[in-house]
Amino acid sequence: MMHTGKGRFPDNFLWGSATAAYQVEGAWDQDGKGPSVWDTYTKLPGTTFKGTNGDVAVDHYNRFREDVALMADMGLKAYRFSIAWSRIFPKGNGETNEQGLLFYDQLIDELLRYKIEPIITIYHWDVPQGLMDEYGAWESRQIIEDFNDYCITLYKRYGSRVKYWVTLNEQNVFIGLGYKSGIHPPGVKDLKRMYNANHIANLANAKAIQSFRRYVPGGKIGPSFAYGPNYPFSCRPDDVMAFENAEDLNNHWWLDIYCWGKYPKASWKYLEENDLAPDIHAGDWELLEFGRPDFIGINYYRTGTVEMNPADGVGQGDMNTTGQKGTTPESGVPGMYKSIRNPHLEATNWDWEIDPEGLRIGLRRLTSRYGLPILITENGLGEFDTLEDHDIINDDYRIDYLKSHVEACQNAINDGAMLLGYCTWSFTDILSWLNGYQKRYGFVYINRDEHSEKDLRRIKKKSFYWYKEVIKSNGSHLNFIPSQTEESR
Ligand code: BG6
Repeated sequence: MMHTGKGRFPDNFLWGSATAAYQVEGAWDQDGKGPSVWDTYTKLPGTTFKGTNGDVAVDHYNRFREDVALMADMGLKAYRFSIAWSRIFPKGNGETNEQGLLFYDQLIDELLRYKIEPIITIYHWDVPQGLMDEYGAWESRQIIEDFNDYCITLYKRYGSRVKYWVTLNEQNVFIGLGYKSGIHPPGVKDLKRMYNANHIANLANAKAIQSFRRYVPGGKIGPSFAYGPNYPFSCRPDDVMAFENAEDLNNHWWLDIYCWGKYPKASWKYLEENDLAPDIHAGDWELLEFGRPDFIGINYYRTGTVEMNPADGVGQGDMNTTGQKGTTPESGVPGMYKSIRNPHLEATNWDWEIDPEGLRIGLRRLTSRYGLPILITENGLGEFDTLEDHDIINDDYRIDYLKSHVEACQNAINDGAMLLGYCTWSFTDILSWLNGYQKRYGFVYINRDEHSEKDLRRIKKKSFYWYKEVIKSNGSHLNFIPSQTEESR
């Protein structure tokens, strides 16, 4: 669609950036923190790129004031961070750890001092190991109560200072990779268990939102979903049907529950026929009704392109975790769809297709289907960066990526999407879960790699100055080209 004018970002638009506790904090056992499943999983041989883990990560726990000062220097309007559940409840339930609560008190106060809006992610994948040992974490309904207690503790402590909250980060990813492909903790490959754990997570999400209404009445809450809009590879009807299958099974399966409290019919039928449908207990549907969010959080990186996959066709494939381009094998769901490379799109070294127009398309689909405000809780480019002499990082490819996606947001606003904000992934470089430290996302380079923590020095990349100007101009100076002497500006 072509519009006559350009979309304008609202004056209070949340120009933000995001991180997650396990990926930045480090301090894995400091000040009373208990272990999470990621602390355990990354120590198992062969689970992550070159055996990397988040024991130290980028040491944000001990350097948060320096990091927040960098955010303030950039003019950031919002910072999305996650709370490590096992800092607050070292075992997942029972006694709270005051030192853990205090850390986030200080982080929030520091952000507010610089007028940066804190956005709390309650859960970004690091379930306490204690709950995994006690009852299998997301596979037991006991987690609904424990998660609710954890949420209420946070609401009471931080609710008067923090308006925006994200319940679960990418439930579709932590459940899918944890219980289907088995490459995230707990490393299970069992579809029946996956759909049950996912249903329990849906209930926990709904209960957390129900409690939020009571404890943080003026706040806004929603889950963050890893949203990959799909395209049919061709207009052949069986490819279009594969597209419908992928949309239903990979997107609506989560979003319909969040927004409407219902699973999409065709996917439910498919799961029932294959004995994979989750167990429903009395009261589940009623609880799910309470889950309606104030906004949909969207983590957008890429689209998917699908074609027909026969009943004996390709199944789950591996992920490229090395950065060697072109090494992602085929994957799909037999009888439903098969993912294939889109010949019209460039891809990153990790084979993630770059598709800003896909973001606009996705925002439009979400707006038509659910009619809710949308917060882009993640968007960014994971790439190799080179630290040049004199601490220079020329990450023009990241600027290009972000610029095109901000333009897509602008167009989406013009199309009618109610965008609350845009959080890039990530502020500093982070531990990229299975990909180690070489897949960098930040505006701020962290001087460390897989082999050594070096000095963990913070160095501004070229993109830092670009985003600073974008924020300052409220999104109107997207073509700004920072010079290498920006520091003197
Ligand atoms: C999202 C997660 O899936 O994408 C982040 O919320 C993650 O935690 C990001 O880092 C990029 O994924 P990856 O695997 O490249 O780190």
